[in-house]
Amino acid sequence: MSKKVDGILVPSDEIQEICQRLGAEITRDYQGQEILLICILKGAVVFMADLMREIKVPCEIDFMAVQSYTGTKTSGVVRIIKDLDLDIAGRHVLIVEDIIDSGLTLSHLIGLLKTRNPASLKIVACFDKPERRRAKLDIDYIGKAIPDEFIVGYGLDYEGQYRNLPDVSILCGTGEED
Ligand code: IMP
Ligand code: MG
Repeated sequence: MSKKVDGILVPSDEIQEICQRLGAEITRDYQGQEILLICILKGAVVFMADLMREIKVPCEIDFMAVQSYTGTKTSGVVRIIKDLDLDIAGRHVLIVEDIIDSGLTLSHLIGLLKTRNPASLKIVACFDKPERRRAKLDIDYIGKAIPDEFIVGYGLDYEGQYRNLPDVSILCGTGEED
């Protein structure tokens, strides 16, 4: 089936406003604390780069790559492709995600990271597809809720492509996701 990037759903200037708003909220909530930002590779890399520059409290960054196997059952299993370099015990950890869909990947990751005893553990997601949620998940900061469409651009891919597009657009001709 051929794929086509259709109309822009979220233009880059709106994404910049989202990053500014989220950065201000995070800065306010973490006054007097230091944050450890964890970027979930690869999709969140563009969002991470923009968001971290809007956060005005001290930050360290680290990266993690996971692969989710959702299979046919309700619970997905997450395999760590790249683990963190840093020890998160006693740290204020903020997970930075590109988009939350079923929520299965992140709910498993949260369970895993909690066993490492962070001082706190929160989530910031640039985009959210609430209609698709299958796991119970409290997302602390959400950039924008979007309809149940497959989107690309601003770090989000389809088969590795389109991450470099500055705007977020709907991809037609697929019901799949990475
Ligand atoms: P979840 O476990 O279903 O929440 O999976 C979330 C992950 O699926 C995201 O981090 C993305 O990598 C990917 N994903 C979900 N929806 C989209 C989309 O619309 N475009 C691109 N990637 C997506
Ligand atoms: Mg992702």
